[in-house]
Amino acid sequence: MTNLQKRSLLQTVALTAVAVAALVGCGKKEEVAPAAAPGAEAPAKSEPLKIAFMYVSPVGDGGWTYQHELGRRAIQEKFGDRIETSFVESVPESADSERVMRDMAGQGSKLVFATSFGYQEFVQKAAADLKDVKFEHATGYKTAGNVATYDTKTFEGAYLAGIVAGGMTKTKTIGVVASVPIPEVVRNINSFVLGAQSVDPAIKAKVVWVNEWFSPPKESEAATSLINGGVDVMYQNTNSPAVLKTAQERGVRAFGKDGDMSAFAPQAHLGSAVIDWTPYYTKVTQDTLDGKWEGGSFWWGVKEGAMDLVKIADDVPQEVKDRVAKAKAGMKDESFHVWTGPIQDNAGKEVLPAGKVGDNAFLTGIDFYVHGVEGKVPGAK
Ligand code: GUN
Repeated sequence: MTNLQKRSLLQTVALTAVAVAALVGCGKKEEVAPAAAPGAEAPAKSEPLKIAFMYVSPVGDGGWTYQHELGRRAIQEKFGDRIETSFVESVPESADSERVMRDMAGQGSKLVFATSFGYQEFVQKAAADLKDVKFEHATGYKTAGNVATYDTKTFEGAYLAGIVAGGMTKTKTIGVVASVPIPEVVRNINSFVLGAQSVDPAIKAKVVWVNEWFSPPKESEAATSLINGGVDVMYQNTNSPAVLKTAQERGVRAFGKDGDMSAFAPQAHLGSAVIDWTPYYTKVTQDTLDGKWEGGSFWWGVKEGAMDLVKIADDVPQEVKDRVAKAKAGMKDESFHVWTGPIQDNAGKEVLPAGKVGDNAFLTGIDFYVHGVEGKVPGAK
């Protein structure tokens, strides 16, 4: 190799290292090796397990991503120097995400959490090449030998919030700012409405789609149009507190979702449907450290401590709070299932007969609105 070739190679390596460090380095804990005494053997110390998290929105979004970040911090705290965690935020659901995951693996990460639905195809592509890395994909449905999927029953939180909405709406019209039209989001919209209708079957609902997970201006615009249409209690499946803030500006009520959003709009806040990813992240980290990672699909909810409705507002009547407590207790001991028939779609067709509980195949394929919701699911026939 000529000197020029050597220099160029070194430069390339240095540049790549800088680029990758810039990309992957946020939140990374540096390990400094202790200096060994001259002549003494350095004590054998096993390398920490490197774990990387990929986030779709900013780490401080106050909702979806922030909750994943709390899970990351919790495992770093719990497992100490046995693991080294890092994250990359605001990664679009595009080929960029595949590049980020490959870089994470290049940096030595052996466990990668891809925390948004739209990463699915890119996880599959990266995982097919990087067989010594375990991939964990949040909310997806495609597994592989080194790809597990995991999710939280966010629809249970939506139902509990719906009970509160049903007890608080005066216009009898509630609304949802919806993000990306996938079954999970349609299921959450419907579950919110079913919760409200368990208090008052006459309640109607409106939905506005923003087609993004995180866009505070669009979320706010959508909330404004719901309020202008007569909605006085709102839920959202987007990542920021924009809907809640808009509710406060306009004197109506709304919920936090994914994270505790009470501090963003205390007067409007009716409760927050909070996800706790920590129990799952702890399990997977422990399994991986023990060499027992097996993959599979996990869907935890209220029963497993992964979902809760917290900080219900003081002015919500006790009778409504009691209904929430009863539903929650039923979710815990499995005596109550949100999706129990009779349930009709908004065209009057029975989708679940009386007494029948929707199984996972039903729940993951919901592509209709329930009775009382205005309009059509985007893309539905
Ligand atoms: N990415 C950001 N927010 C969400 C969410 O609520 N659900 C899913 N599946 N992916 C997300």
